[in-house]
Amino acid sequence: MSLENVVCDSRETRDLRLAGRINAPAKVFDFDPMSYVAEFRAKGYVHIKDGVTPEFIEMAKARLEEYQGDRSQFLSEWEFKNKKQQYLFEFPENNRLLRGAMDTVATVTDMAPDRVTTSERHIKVYAPKAHPNPPAHKDRFASKIAVGIPLFMPAESAVVLYPDQSREVNGFDSSEDWRNSFATPDLPENVLKNVEPTKLYVDVGDVVLFLGSAIYHERINGANAVLLYLKFNDMRLDPLAEDPFIATQRQASLANLARMTDRDLLDCAAEVSPRLVRVSRHYTRNDWREVLMGQVAGEKSFQLSESDLALLNRIRNGQKVRELLADAGIPDANAPEFLQAIRRLGERGGIDILS
Ligand SMILES: [Fe+2]
Repeated sequence: MSLENVVCDSRETRDLRLAGRINAPAKVFDFDPMSYVAEFRAKGYVHIKDGVTPEFIEMAKARLEEYQGDRSQFLSEWEFKNKKQQYLFEFPENNRLLRGAMDTVATVTDMAPDRVTTSERHIKVYAPKAHPNPPAHKDRFASKIAVGIPLFMPAESAVVLYPDQSREVNGFDSSEDWRNSFATPDLPENVLKNVEPTKLYVDVGDVVLFLGSAIYHERINGANAVLLYLKFNDMRLDPLAEDPFIATQRQASLANLARMTDRDLLDCAAEVSPRLVRVSRHYTRNDWREVLMGQVAGEKSFQLSESDLALLNRIRNGQKVRELLADAGIPDANAPEFLQAIRRLGERGGIDILS
C-alpha cells in the first residue's frame, strides 16, 4: 500500500469515526442567501444570526478536538506568538459541504459560483494572552470575502470593522506585506485612531461575511476565542493550496499532459494555475544576473523565460491552446516548440490544462 493510500485511508477512517460520533451535517449554512444580497452590497458585510447549522458547529468542534490532540495537524508556520494557533480545517472527503458553502457565499456576495475559489480554511485558536486591541488589517488579495464562523466565543470578544474608511484592496500576498508598504503616519492604527469602528458580537451559531481584502478589520478581546475562517474569491486564486477542487484540477491537468498527444493538446483549454502565487524578477549575486522565477503554492519555485511570461500574460480563461497559438502569431513550423513550452509550464504547475 502506498503512503498516499495510507494517508487517504486514515482520513476516511477519521471521517467515519466522526460520522459515528456526531450527526453528519447536510450543509454548513442555514439561511436564504438571496435575502442578504442587498445588505451585503450596501454595507460590505453582513452578520447573520443563527446562520450556521448546529450539526456543522458540532462537526467543526469535533475536528478541533482531534487536531488539538495531534501536533502533526498544527500549522506550525502559522504560529503567531501569543496571538493564535491555526489548523487546516478538513471538510469531509467528498467536499460536498464545502461546495454548498461556496455556492451560498457566492450568492450573498454576488460572485459567479463557477469562479469561486477557496483561498483559506483555517481554525484559529486565539491565545489566552492575545492582544486585546491589535491594529486593524486587510486580508491578502486572494481573500476577497472573509467568513467567520465562531466555535467558542467569549462574551467580550468582537470583530471590529471600518466599512466607511479606505476600501482600497490589499493587492499583496499577505496582510504583512500590505502593512509594510506604508509609512508610519499611514499605518492603520494611526489613520483609524479617531474613527469609531462597527463592532459585531458574533456568537456561536452566527456567521459574519465581509470584504476581507478591502475593509480594515480585527478581532478585539480575542483571548480564548476559536473561529473557523473561510476565505473566498472569484478570481480563481488559491495561494495557499487549500482549495480541494483546484487540487483535483491540478491532478487532472498532469494526467492530461501525460496522456495527450500534441494534437489533443491543441483542443484543450489552458488556465493560469490558481496556485501560481507570483512571478518575480530578481538579480543574483552572480554578477547580478537577472532571473525570472515562478512560485506555485506548495511546490518548488521554477525558472521562467521571457516567452513563458509572455505566454502567461496571453492566457485568457477557457481559451483553447489552438487559439493561444493563433493569437501569438506563431507559424505552424514553430508549433511543436510552443507546445513544449505549454507542457513544461503545465508540468511545473504554472498553468493547468483542462480537457
Ligand atoms: Fe483578517
